[in-house]
Amino acid sequence: MSNLEVPQIVSSSYITIKVYDKEIEKKKDILAKLFSSYPKEDIYFDLVSDGVIIYLRELDFFSFKNSIHIATINNTDSDVVNLLNSILHNIEKIKSYGLKGRKRLYVGYDKERKVRNREEKEIIRGKYYYARDNQFSKQNNKIPEEFINKIILGDSEEVLKKLPDNCIDLIFTSPPYNFGLDYENHKDGVNWNEYFDKLFAIFQECIRVLKYGGRIVVDVQPLFSDYVPIHHIISNFFMENKLIWKGEILWDKHNYNCKYTAWGSWKSPSNPYLKYTWEFLEIFSKGDLKHSGDQKMADITADEFKKWVYAKWDIQPEYNMKKYGHPAMFPEELVERVLKLFSFKGDMILDPFNGVGTTTAVAKRLSRNYLGIEISEEYCKKAEERLKNTQIDTRLF
Ligand SMILES: C[S@@+](CC[C@H](N)C(=O)[O-])C[C@H]1O[C@@H](n2cnc3c(N)ncnc32)[C@H](O)[C@@H]1O
Repeated sequence: MSNLEVPQIVSSSYITIKVYDKEIEKKKDILAKLFSSYPKEDIYFDLVSDGVIIYLRELDFFSFKNSIHIATINNTDSDVVNLLNSILHNIEKIKSYGLKGRKRLYVGYDKERKVRNREEKEIIRGKYYYARDNQFSKQNNKIPEEFINKIILGDSEEVLKKLPDNCIDLIFTSPPYNFGLDYENHKDGVNWNEYFDKLFAIFQECIRVLKYGGRIVVDVQPLFSDYVPIHHIISNFFMENKLIWKGEILWDKHNYNCKYTAWGSWKSPSNPYLKYTWEFLEIFSKGDLKHSGDQKMADITADEFKKWVYAKWDIQPEYNMKKYGHPAMFPEELVERVLKLFSFKGDMILDPFNGVGTTTAVAKRLSRNYLGIEISEEYCKKAEERLKNTQIDTRLF
C-alpha cells in the first residue's frame, strides 16, 4: 500500500494535522521516505491540492524527530526543510497525549474523559467564581528595609499592621491548633470562637500584606476529637475573603499520634473513631493563580517538580523538638518543598507564627528573604540562633 492509500481504519480514529504547501506534489517522495519507517496504523499522510494532511494516532515522537533531523540536516532545499520542520512543530505542540512504552498515544488514551469543549464549559461554570469580584490592588510594594531578614518578637496582629499592603510573595505558616499544647507564651486551648476570632484577625492582615499573585500556605491539623474541621473553616475564611483556593497538599507523617486504644466504639458501628496520620496544607492565591518572577530564580529541579506536584507528600515529622524546646515544629523538608514549589529565590517569605524559626532558617538557606513573627521571646532567640548556624546553600548558584 502506498502512502497515498488510506489504511483500513476509519479516519475518526486519527487526529489530523494540515500543513499548507502550494508545491506539495514535488515533495511527495521525501514525505514517502520519511513516513515509510512508521506503521501506517500509527501515522500516515495524504496530499491535497494546497498541502498535506497528517493522520496521527500514535508515534515514537523522539524517533520521528530524529528522522526529521536526518532528512533536513544536509538538505539544501529550504522549502523542504521548512515543510518537514513545520510537520514536526505541529506534532510537537500537541501536549495532550498518553504514553505506551516509547510511544505517545494521541487518540483513545482519555476515553474515560467524556468532557468536550472543556474550556468553554469552564467559562460557563465560572472558574473560582467566589473570588472573581475581589477588590485587590495590583500595585505591589517593596517591604521597608527594617523588616527584611528579621525575626520580630510580638503579636502578629499588631506587628503586621506596620507593614504596607502587597509586599510579601509567600506566607507559609502553621498556626497554633488549639490542642492545649504547652507553648512558652501562648495559651493553647481556648473556646473555639475566641480561637477563630484571633486567628482570623491575623489572617486578615496576612491577606492585606500579600502581593497580588502572592500565595499563602497554611499547614493545619484539625482536632478531630472535637469534631471541628479547622482546615475547612480556614479555607472558607480565605474564600469568603476572595482568595483563590489553589489546592491542598496532604502531608502524611505516617505516625499514629492517637492512642491505639482510642477506638471510639470498639468493633461496633455505634461510634467508631477515625484516626489520621496526616495534616493538610491549604494553599491560596491572591488575585491571580500566577506568581510573577524571573525563571532564572526558580531553583526546583525537574525531578523535584514532577514528584512534588503530586499533592501527597510523605515526610517524617520533626523529631528534634526537644532539642529546640518547642512542642509543635514542622520539619525543614516540608518548608523546603513549599518554598521551592511556590516561590522564587529572592522572594519575600513571611511566617506569622514562626516558632523556633523553621521557615526563616530554610528561607535563608534557599536564598529567599524572610520575616518571622513570634510571640515568645524564648522561641525568637532560638530562631535567631538557628539563623546564625544556617549557611546559604551555594549549590544553588
Ligand atoms: C505551631 S507553632 C509554629 C512552629 C513553627 N512552625 C516551627 O517549626 O517552629 C505556632 C507558634 O505560634 C506562636 N504564636 C501564637 N500566637 C501568636 C501570635 N498572636 N503572634 C505571633 N506568634 C504567635 C506560638 O508561640 C507558637 O510558637
